[in-house]
Amino acid sequence: MTLKIKISLLLFLLFTGIVACTKGKKDVSANAMYERSELATLMVDMWDENKKVKEDLVNGLDSVVLSGQHEKMFTAKPTDSSDLTPVFYNLAKGYNTLADSFSNAGSEREIKIKRYNAVIDGCVSCHENFCSGPIPKIKQLYLREKPSSL
Ligand code: HEC
Repeated sequence: MTLKIKISLLLFLLFTGIVACTKGKKDVSANAMYERSELATLMVDMWDENKKVKEDLVNGLDSVVLSGQHEKMFTAKPTDSSDLTPVFYNLAKGYNTLADSFSNAGSEREIKIKRYNAVIDGCVSCHENFCSGPIPKIKQLYLREKPSSL
């Protein structure tokens, strides 16, 4: 392992430790046996998928679509069941709409990038209400590329 990889790995571990949503949990960092809830696991998968979609867009794969795994948001068990309020379900519906309009956007680059960023807005708006810890990590997903300058 090169030093650079070691440092990146360390930063990654530090970062993921800090951003995990700790709402409703007691001292998660001290508990090595902490298991992610279904919803938290889904969220991690959604982050990974959107990261991959961003990379595809950067690489010019403009017809990329989302898998639809986010629909499990309606049934996945959260760490804290008191999160499952009407506001949560409305924001989840809002996210679904944004994800669909991204996937149905065809392959015109400018539209695709605009709708991709709107999907990330959908993540952030729910997190502003329910779990603000991961917001900086979610914001890394924005694609700030100016399509006209390509
Ligand atoms: C409808 C609300 C909602 C939407 C939309 C949403 N999230 Fe979440 N997210 C949550 C809640 C609630 C939690 C806490 C889950 C738990 O602890 O069980 C969470 C947790 C997370 C976590 C922390 C997981 C962990 O344990 O480390 C990440 C990262 C995350 N979300 C990323 C995203 C991304 C990326 C998107 C968009 C692609 C997104 N979220 C969309 C509500 C939402």
